[in-house]
Amino acid sequence: MDKLTRFGVSLEKELLSKFDLHIKKQNCPARSKAIADLIRKELVKSEWDKGKTVVAAITLVYDHHKKDLISKLIDIQHDTHGLIISSQHIHLDHNNCFEIIIVKGAPQKIKSLADKLKSVKGVKHSSLNAATTGKGI
Ligand code: NI
Repeated sequence: MDKLTRFGVSLEKELLSKFDLHIKKQNCPARSKAIADLIRKELVKSEWDKGKTVVAAITLVYDHHKKDLISKLIDIQHDTHGLIISSQHIHLDHNNCFEIIIVKGAPQKIKSLADKLKSVKGVKHSSLNAATTGKGI
């Protein structure tokens, strides 16, 4: 574990009460952990804004019976194969598939790929989960 540093923070009482209630609902074990998570989240956002190499998980839910849907999703992924590290396909039920695509590269390229996949007709749900390479945070 990294060396810990203590520091004092002055906040409005009401703001802190709301924050404590918020982290209690999320079962966060300690206020310091919640604050560290917020700082890391902000650093990840900054990493994405600066256009450095980032990692992310794109998730998709779709009905594989929709005409041409699978081939469109595969075509898009082959066109951007340099970004994709791996993908996993789970058959949720008779109709629905869940796909997780792990990507690494420039944030704009990743966002563009996620948008292309999301826009394919028949995709019921998609998300782009920004993460970090862990360097510098
Ligand atoms: Ni499937």
